[in-house]
Amino acid sequence: MDNLEEGYRVPVKFRDGEDYHLAEIISKKVVNGETKYYIHYEAFNKRLDEWVEESRMKLDEIQGPKKIDTKTPVKGQGHPFSRPCSPAGDVLQCSTPTPSQMKRGPPTKKKKLEEKLVHKALAVNVSHIDVTPIPSPNIPVSDSQDVEDSLPSAPRQTGSMSAHHDTDVVTRMKNVELIEIGKYRIRPWYFSPYPQELTELPVLYLCEYCLKYLKSRTCLKHHLSKCLLLHPPGNEIYRQGNISFFEIDGRKHKSYAQNLCLLAKLFLDHKTLYYDTDPFLFYVMCEFDSRGHHILGYFSKEKESSEDYNVACILTLPQIQRKGYGKLLIEFSYELSKVEGKTGSPEKPLSDLGLLSYRSYWSQTILEIIMGLKPNEPGERPAITINEISEVTSIKREDVISTLQHLNLISYFKGQYVLTLSKETRDSHAKSMSRRKIRIDSKALHWQPKDWSKRGKW
Ligand code: ACO
Ligand code: ZN
Repeated sequence: MDNLEEGYRVPVKFRDGEDYHLAEIISKKVVNGETKYYIHYEAFNKRLDEWVEESRMKLDEIQGPKKIDTKTPVKGQGHPFSRPCSPAGDVLQCSTPTPSQMKRGPPTKKKKLEEKLVHKALAVNVSHIDVTPIPSPNIPVSDSQDVEDSLPSAPRQTGSMSAHHDTDVVTRMKNVELIEIGKYRIRPWYFSPYPQELTELPVLYLCEYCLKYLKSRTCLKHHLSKCLLLHPPGNEIYRQGNISFFEIDGRKHKSYAQNLCLLAKLFLDHKTLYYDTDPFLFYVMCEFDSRGHHILGYFSKEKESSEDYNVACILTLPQIQRKGYGKLLIEFSYELSKVEGKTGSPEKPLSDLGLLSYRSYWSQTILEIIMGLKPNEPGERPAITINEISEVTSIKREDVISTLQHLNLISYFKGQYVLTLSKETRDSHAKSMSRRKIRIDSKALHWQPKDWSKRGKW
């Protein structure tokens, strides 16, 4: 079709279903005489973007490119939770609601629509998290390329990440077809700046211990025969059951840190990679078995953060997502903040999945505190301040406030803020806590924070 150019929009049938959704054409290419289009489904996360053929399009419903509104000022990225706050010292009293006390506003239409869209996108996403466990460790080697360890060096941008707006067509498109790491084959979600010649291969092979990337299974085997690592470099600072956390200094273990960032970028959309990993610490969560420590996820953290960030980037690998490990990583990050005697918050913007996970963690943690409150005097209502919640949990007060507001718990009654816990909230909290099986045991953490400001150089 001649008028199927970049920027044009057309309804496209989803990969696993009958539904059509309006999609924008990002790029096109000709493969064996057939044109393929890289499309982005409007209102859905970019991880669903894909190459499609015309046969999946409703060609009689093509729309021209979106008009860009140049008059309306563009809003900044903004903190998704920044809403009006109550003063720090306000005492929040806890009570059971009576209808006249319930002064909270219902969620607005816009908010409802936004939530619906996120959930819709996520619901679809779940079926698209393609992970294939590899049946046996001895997969036939079909690849006879020379064993070569000296692969093209990584691009200079690898390492820490910062928020970005993607306007570049190249970085907007997924570039790696599949990765093989440990016993899994995983389909990446987003672009990551691996060397271009390697992204042209059907599978990119990763050493699950040092995260080095290789062009073939033969190369991987050869590498594994020489690789000395059976766990991430750095210090094991936590062990409970078969879960361990390793602390890796981005300056001391540059190559590992850069490889970790390259891997993470495949699943993180809103971050740009920088090559300087020196200012960061990386906390890698592993599961231990007789073969070694297998990476499950990680978070990075600035050695010094002027904005009180206690997490820069956070990731669980797709094969173990939605099993509670994301919240385990988050819980661990707040345990570190507790040892530091600080409150902290994740770096903004959060991704859609990041927001869901943090909201869930904050809600559970704060409700746990509130529901455990006892009155000072018999017959009195239990009371707590926002600052107290923040101190006990290390959750930054803005996040405490946004969570209470999101849960619709705060109401204003007779001149003071009142926390109203309905039976419904208590029941759903008890239910969600009963599902949260894996937890951090603070006694298993062996860690002393360093005062990085006293060191001349990280
Ligand atoms: N659809 C709907 N809900 C989801 C989904 C999903 N695909 N994934 C997670 N959730 C919800 C869970 O239901 C759970 O809430 P609940 O317990 O109240 O039901 C909550 O999020 C956390 O679930 P976990 O199983 O603990 O988290 P998971 O292991 O899936 O990890 C994470 C969450 C780290 C965000 C993961 O999805 C991920 O790595 N995503 C890609 C990278 C990313 O977006 N990172 C965050 C960026 S923001 C930042 O870096 C500061
Ligand atoms: Zn290795």
